[in-house]
Amino acid sequence: MDLPQLLRTMPKAELHIHIEGSLEPELIFRLAARNGVALPYPSVEALRAAYAFSDLQSFLDIYYAGAGVLLKEADFFEMAWAYLERAAADNVVHAEIFFDPQTHTERGVPVEAVILGLHHACQRAHAELGVSAKLILCFLRHLSEEAALEVLEQALPWREYFIGVGLDSSERGHPPEKFARVFARARELGLHVVAHAGEEGPPAYIESALDVLKVERIDHGVRCVESPALVARLAASRMPLTVCPLSNLKLRVFPKLEQHNLKVLLDAGLCATVNSDDPAYFGGYLNDNFVQTFAALPALTRADAYQLAKNSFEASFASAAEKADWTARLDAVYAAT
Ligand code: HPA
Ligand code: ZN
Repeated sequence: MDLPQLLRTMPKAELHIHIEGSLEPELIFRLAARNGVALPYPSVEALRAAYAFSDLQSFLDIYYAGAGVLLKEADFFEMAWAYLERAAADNVVHAEIFFDPQTHTERGVPVEAVILGLHHACQRAHAELGVSAKLILCFLRHLSEEAALEVLEQALPWREYFIGVGLDSSERGHPPEKFARVFARARELGLHVVAHAGEEGPPAYIESALDVLKVERIDHGVRCVESPALVARLAASRMPLTVCPLSNLKLRVFPKLEQHNLKVLLDAGLCATVNSDDPAYFGGYLNDNFVQTFAALPALTRADAYQLAKNSFEASFASAAEKADWTARLDAVYAAT
């Protein structure tokens, strides 16, 4: 039995990936040169060396700066295509990809360029890589609810190109209930709804994401363990948590990967999944997250690997037929590895 081999080869879905967080330093430099954007770093190496974070905000500052090189539809296409090729190599069969339109519209980039560039990469991934790829529009929670309502309306001409909305950026001090109206509007439009909660914020933020925003998944959610009643609720409802172990390590949610609570979450019966969050910044794509986390937590078993992949399909917004197909492929790899 070779557990790393199983982790790498098993088909899986990725449900928590910020496409701007897949922008590698090499591509940042290439796009900066092409678009005439000045960078405050002399080289790729110097930029990469700046990726030492102390918390979520210290990461977000550099992540938003990196996204400043994205101006044209082709830039968004190239970024997403690079991610999707990399994901396919990790046996990702389905990806639900976050994007942050406000990071771009605030710089004068038309929302159309953002959505069309990403959408064309998703279409090509389906045709050429056999990867199903969907988009989720995220609101920046450090900005106002009015700004979120505005960007949602701006995006509506391309409504069929995204399947849902999410909530990301600085969590502390920006509780989910700040976005009650825009999430109600999104639900009215038939969009799926998810939100980051319980990454740096308290369990109460997970509760208000559920009760006020009526989310269908919690992104991160690892701080739920501080409330046994909340853990019981999440388990009973099979509410998915999109956990991102290397992100949690790099942003110091856990001091060491050995102290990550992924095994605790699974043993509590939660629908936990493994995801990469911002792979260009956190030192690994999806299989790196699986392999490094299983190496750091020897209590995680082969059965846990299977459960995590199965959970990723269960937690996705794909059709029942797609989920059944991917699960059958997972069963075949599990039996053979
Ligand atoms: N948390 C909040 N906002 C984000 C993240 C994250 O992990 N990554 C990109 N935007
Ligand atoms: Zn995230």
